Amino acid sequence: MQTQHEFDVLIIGSGAAGLTLALKLADKANIAVLSKGELTSGSTWLAQGGVAAVIDSLDVEKNHVDDTLTAGGHLSHSKAVNFTIDNARESIDWLIQQGVPFSKENGQLHLTKEGGHSHRRIIHAADSTGRAILQTLIKRAKACDSIHFFEHSMAIDLITTEKLGISGDRCLGAYVLNSHSGDIQVFKAKQTILATGGASKTYLYTSNSDGASGDGIAMAWRSGCRVANLEFNQFHPTCLYHPQAKSFLVSEAVRGEGGRLLLPDGTPFMHKFDQRGELAPRDIVARAIDHEMKRLGADCLFLDISHRDDDFIKSHFPTIYQRCSELGIDMCNQPIPIVPAAHYTCGGVMSDIHGNTDISGLYAIGETAFTGLHGANRLASNSLLECIVFASSCAVDIADKLALPANYPIIPSWDESQVTDSDEDVIIAHNWDELRRFMWDYVGIVRTDKRLQRAKHRSDLLQGEIAEYYSNYKISKDLLELRNLALVSQLIIQSAMLRKESRGLHYTLDYPNLGPQARDTILTPINYLWPGNSL
Ligand code: FAD
Ligand code: SIN
Repeated sequence: MQTQHEFDVLIIGSGAAGLTLALKLADKANIAVLSKGELTSGSTWLAQGGVAAVIDSLDVEKNHVDDTLTAGGHLSHSKAVNFTIDNARESIDWLIQQGVPFSKENGQLHLTKEGGHSHRRIIHAADSTGRAILQTLIKRAKACDSIHFFEHSMAIDLITTEKLGISGDRCLGAYVLNSHSGDIQVFKAKQTILATGGASKTYLYTSNSDGASGDGIAMAWRSGCRVANLEFNQFHPTCLYHPQAKSFLVSEAVRGEGGRLLLPDGTPFMHKFDQRGELAPRDIVARAIDHEMKRLGADCLFLDISHRDDDFIKSHFPTIYQRCSELGIDMCNQPIPIVPAAHYTCGGVMSDIHGNTDISGLYAIGETAFTGLHGANRLASNSLLECIVFASSCAVDIADKLALPANYPIIPSWDESQVTDSDEDVIIAHNWDELRRFMWDYVGIVRTDKRLQRAKHRSDLLQGEIAEYYSNYKISKDLLELRNLALVSQLIIQSAMLRKESRGLHYTLDYPNLGPQARDTILTPINYLWPGNSL
């Protein structure tokens, strides 16, 4: 008999969203927090720029709302936008109470600027805001007896009454692989939360860590939840271009503090594309860079902040300065080579203002969720904010439900009797590479119907192969990630094919204009018959 754990609350993910929720429920519930790697393995740890909130006396919330709607191509849901921004100040205060050491100047929070923001409103901890937040939240959470951490524990799939053939569509927990021991265990919980981050690893070049494989989106979909707006994958304009600089971001705050984008011959170009220049929203800047790189056949363009004081650069951007220095780039005296890379998943699991999904007892928060906040393109530094705001409202909703009895049916252990050890692990690595390359080539910054059709064809073939591999061989973390990546890629392609217009991050040469109506792309799992999509 395999181990069966039982908790009030199962939080899958230990980033800003998961840990905020855990801390907010710590005095009310017995909580498990899973991370498929170390606790620091998600995107939160890598976040540089900061958290957006109206603090400056010359700024008002309406400006932040308007900037969010404009950056989002007027597809954001005003309810979600207003809710997030109404709760922004309180979220910053909560983070400060937890002990996050945000940067200050003259005793006040220092506010930096990023693309699409009409005012200085980014609260930050130098250029490693995510690390400062996560270190603080981990320390706090480790001090709580009610929070139990399970690292290297990867949720494979959700357990629902429907999958067990029992009436009432309720989530009961998840099957979890311990990637060190290879054991698969049942985690039962009254309430299960997907806080698993985004899916940018579907692309060959990304600012994200290896774990950004869209597991939450894939698990929710396989359990019957709707997903929305997955065609809007955000490409960050400025990732470091260097053969050894795997996935390293150069924060938008560098442009916020005066950094200029340059062609290889040193000519500035952003003003040709948008009057906001370097501080236009990210979709516009990334597209402009992509356009210039293709026009010139250049491998990269450049970001130059060397006109600022050395001390200013080193104190505001110590992490970027150090990483560049390690690679022989002195950003105080020379421009930084940059390229756009996949950065953020604007769509996700459909969820309401409290994180409720289509299945009772299942919530989605943070980057894995689709709340309606980001529309067709996320405004810089609105993501960490969304994590804190929605984790907090999710905690309120869950607290009201904790008194209900659990009443679990018998949950079968994971059955491995029909599978054998794989003798061909190379197939997994090969399929990972192929998938991420065709997503980059055909479903990237500029799309066409023909490219999407090509991607769909390849994706269908891969799905079939992966499904067969999954049913015949023992599972591993790599196989599970590949399976999830392949499914999410398929959903991205399908969403992109359905959008017959260009809006925000979805730009297609076949429909270069905005359509008459702003509408979400909502996919429903029922009757969805692509290969490998077994629920
Ligand atoms: P994450 O922090 O990504 O955490 C996901 C967690 O889920 C991890 O613990 C992971 O191990 C776990 N997990 C995933 N799948 C499974 C599974 N199957 N089983 C168990 N555990 C699982 N946003 C801003 O607002 N401001 C910024 O300055 C900013 N800078 C950024 C810089 C970089 C380089 C990147 C990559 C992103 C940045 N973002 C920024 C975006 C922001 O950091 C993320 O959107 C946000 O941190 C996501 O938090 P999260 O809690 O949803 O997920
Ligand atoms: C950055 O620092 O440029 C990233 C900010 C974000 O993704 O919101």
